[in-house]
Amino acid sequence: MARMSLKVQSARALRAAAWRIERPQTGFRRRTPPPSLDVAALSGADSAPGSRSASWFFEQFPRFYQTSATGLATARLNLRYEAIFGENRDIFAGASVIDIASHDGRWSLAALATGARAVIGIEARPELADAAAENLARYGYGADRVRFITGDAHEVLSTQDLKADVVLCLGFLYHTLRYNELLDGIRRTSARHLIIDTFSPHMMEPTPNVDLVLEYGDEEGKAVADAYTHGPRVLVGRPNLAAIQTMLGAYDYRVERLSDWAGLLRDNSRKEDCDDYANRERITARCVDATVADA
Ligand SMILES: C[S@@+](CC[C@H](N)C(=O)[O-])C[C@H]1O[C@@H](n2cnc3c(N)ncnc32)[C@H](O)[C@@H]1O
Repeated sequence: MARMSLKVQSARALRAAAWRIERPQTGFRRRTPPPSLDVAALSGADSAPGSRSASWFFEQFPRFYQTSATGLATARLNLRYEAIFGENRDIFAGASVIDIASHDGRWSLAALATGARAVIGIEARPELADAAAENLARYGYGADRVRFITGDAHEVLSTQDLKADVVLCLGFLYHTLRYNELLDGIRRTSARHLIIDTFSPHMMEPTPNVDLVLEYGDEEGKAVADAYTHGPRVLVGRPNLAAIQTMLGAYDYRVERLSDWAGLLRDNSRKEDCDDYANRERITARCVDATVADA
């Protein structure tokens, strides 16, 4: 066999090196394996029939049935209260809370009424931040307990030195694609707990997935136009549970448990507009600072 010339050998070696440089490595060893998705373990034991009857929390605060057009169905609002607060009372007692995308103040008020010491709401739409302050004032919560910051949540969290025991990220994860900024901002608050309530059409699929969607910034409950928006459209993502676990892991948080939506829907005859929770496309997840919880 003819011997390969030095020139051909060098060209081959160069091509092989270029191939390796251009392609991402696939077989390298990871120090931290991606978190596994054990939905059964996160969902906890089955609750006893009858144990998940709703308290109809918002009947005491009926202004919230009128001050927004977003997610308003009475049953939905009241069952969400049980999933977000009723199941997590222990973390709200005496806590300082940050409510991301605080809207009309519904969950800021719920946090205070469930035992929180103080709440900071962050809301991009000024008319909603004003409505929230008015709603809270009408129910007796003044500036000593609650304040609303008008601004882009990513920006506010990264530029202001806000601290909290609990961060609420309710109905917001699917109105952004800026996950690094958001999670870095949440990490900077030093929160021990984070509650996420969110939707994905692929929520329970085992592989991390972020579903991309275009929203229009002129709709009340949707993403606002921000520094990266081109034209009227805002590019947002809807991460599923596996993607949320991966993102949280990158910032040393993890999902501790999922709220018992199956029990809530079993035990309450009024459940209008809760199909997304019933189909497990929407979840309420209690997350914890892994560095503290696992220490
Ligand atoms: C679907 S609503 C959720 C309201 C409430 N948190 C809930 O779960 O019922 C989304 C809210 O996010 C607000 N929002 C959208 N983009 C935002 C941003 N970049 N920073 C802060 N708030 C934003 C909207 O104005 C709206 O009030």
